[in-house]
Amino acid sequence: MSIAVTGATGNLGQLVVEALITRGTPASDIVAVVRNPEKAADLAARGVVVRKADYTDATALEAAFAGVDKVVLISGSEVGQRLAQHTNIINAAKAAGVGFIAYTSILDAQDTPMKLAAEHKATEDVLAASGIPFALLRNGWYWENFLNDLAGVIERGAVAGAGADGKIAAAARADYADAAAVVVTTDGHEGAVYELGGDERLTYAQFAEKVSEFAGKPVVYQFVPEEAYKGILESVGLPAPVAEILADSDAAIAKGALDTESGDLQKLIGRASTPVAEVLKKA
Ligand SMILES: NC(=O)c1ccc[n+]([C@@H]2O[C@H](COP(=O)([O-])OP(=O)(O)OC[C@H]3O[C@@H](n4cnc5c(N)ncnc54)[C@H](OP(=O)(O)O)[C@@H]3O)[C@@H](O)[C@H]2O)c1
Repeated sequence: MSIAVTGATGNLGQLVVEALITRGTPASDIVAVVRNPEKAADLAARGVVVRKADYTDATALEAAFAGVDKVVLISGSEVGQRLAQHTNIINAAKAAGVGFIAYTSILDAQDTPMKLAAEHKATEDVLAASGIPFALLRNGWYWENFLNDLAGVIERGAVAGAGADGKIAAAARADYADAAAVVVTTDGHEGAVYELGGDERLTYAQFAEKVSEFAGKPVVYQFVPEEAYKGILESVGLPAPVAEILADSDAAIAKGALDTESGDLQKLIGRASTPVAEVLKKA
């Protein structure tokens, strides 16, 4: 069976390819759909089939899906462009006769207050209308989102954010990747909607405690109101619309938008999620 992974050179995509191989899919049955094949040289060296297609290129996407049975559609990273890009991917998969798509959506995509979810909600709707059997991998936050500036956080002794006392049921990227691999390598997932989150449901303050234990020095949570948080994101170079959407997401944590107790991730991967302490060590 041939399984394509879009965004296969991204952080999550690489881990999905890895999880597929670990779970026994021969590398030659995996098609890495990438926009820059140079970035996929290591995958090609391991026997993974590498095909070039930008999410904006309908013709290349259809060619990339030739002979493919199942697709892991990893949502794109160009916020604002993604609905059109995802629609291209779904249409190309349909034209190529793909039999199943697993799409990486966001927790509670149809009802969440997060602005970031609008493109995911719309993509889910396009997928449902396409007639292609599908499963929704509604991923919660990655713990890695909080670790981009780990050294700085430890130095300042503070984790800043707008999430207040909201719980975050995040998980390691590798756990979400493993769940995606399970969904495309086992049966019974057609029409499934998985709300995926980790075992440790932590507030920002509890996460700061984990960082403190790891660093061996005090690290506390510092609440920053949404507007100020947006300013911080802009000051480190994010474009204003992206900063706005990320600050909105962070504030939505306070409303419980990134919490789940579904247990779906654990059921799929057959184990507990990776402890935050381990994710910190890796970072
Ligand atoms: N759950 C969360 O906490 C969270 C956090 C951040 C993002 N996300 C979402 O989850 C996705 C995967 O996360 P990630 O950490 O793997 O992000 P990432 O490392 O930025 O990967 C995004 C992937 O999409 C590819 N891509 C983007 N635009 C494309 C285009 N126009 N044509 C072809 N490929 C394109 C990128 O290609 P290149 O390798 O060539 O750049 C990359 O492989 C993200 O794209 C985003 O939608 C989720």
